[in-house]
Amino acid sequence: MVHAFPRLKLPRPGGPQWRRPHRRTLDRNRIMKILHVSCSPRGALSESSRLSRRIVDLLLRLQPAAIVVERPIGDAPVPHVDADYAEAQQAHVDAAVHGGSTSCSDALIQELEAADTVVIGTPMHNLMVPSTLKAWIDHVVRARRTFGMTREGKAGFLRDRPVFVAIASGGVFTGANARQPDLLTPYLRLVLGTIGLKDLRFFSVEGTAFGGDWVARARDETDVRLRACFEDLALHDGSFARLSS
Ligand SMILES: Cc1cc2nc3c(=O)[nH]c(=O)nc-3n(C[C@H](O)[C@H](O)[C@H](O)COP(=O)(O)O)c2cc1C
Repeated sequence: MVHAFPRLKLPRPGGPQWRRPHRRTLDRNRIMKILHVSCSPRGALSESSRLSRRIVDLLLRLQPAAIVVERPIGDAPVPHVDADYAEAQQAHVDAAVHGGSTSCSDALIQELEAADTVVIGTPMHNLMVPSTLKAWIDHVVRARRTFGMTREGKAGFLRDRPVFVAIASGGVFTGANARQPDLLTPYLRLVLGTIGLKDLRFFSVEGTAFGGDWVARARDETDVRLRACFEDLALHDGSFARLSS
């Protein structure tokens, strides 16, 4: 199910510099939501989308009634932030900005806030996240909305929740065969941690450029790690005990 951006909502009038994190009490009858953000432009050929769909499938085994909200941004990119949005990020109070990329940001943040679990499928592009994912991040990491400033630095407002990141790369960036640095995983840890999302789990299929047998082996190895992770989560992890309750 692909959700279009909801209609523009009026901003809160001149909100305070600080906004308390939104704490939700658990409603056991509430239907769980999985937000699936897929970032490759390669459609059905995408290895990262294949891996992220596999993660979504494993989550659905834990919670068969869960709703999956699809946010494909690889071939239907979210727009870059515009001047009004950039100005509002600099301001000390919420500006009464409507439309443009602010309404896009509102919609993407609401989608993220509503999710109990997030699955991101992303290629490695030039050692980093692709620009499509960076544009999404620029919309959801938003001053006074998803993080605030303290004397100690930025503090996230979002409730923490599991975030699975499925990465595909042409070369290898982990282990003894790594021939390039990895700026992608530390960056995602830092930037999503800024808004309160600290429970990140990374899985990757590396070396897609080597093709054939290599990719088949990489898929198999990743799948073993995935299944072990989900068995462990189902047994021991509090957040997934919630998911399957
Ligand atoms: C613009 C661009 C930059 C890339 N940069 C890297 C890179 O820095 N390191 C790497 O291992 N692969 C790189 N690749 C290869 C992709 O990571 C690889 O094709 C991967 O399978 C893409 O993910 P997908 O299959 O989900 O589309 C790059 C590909 C593109 C198009």
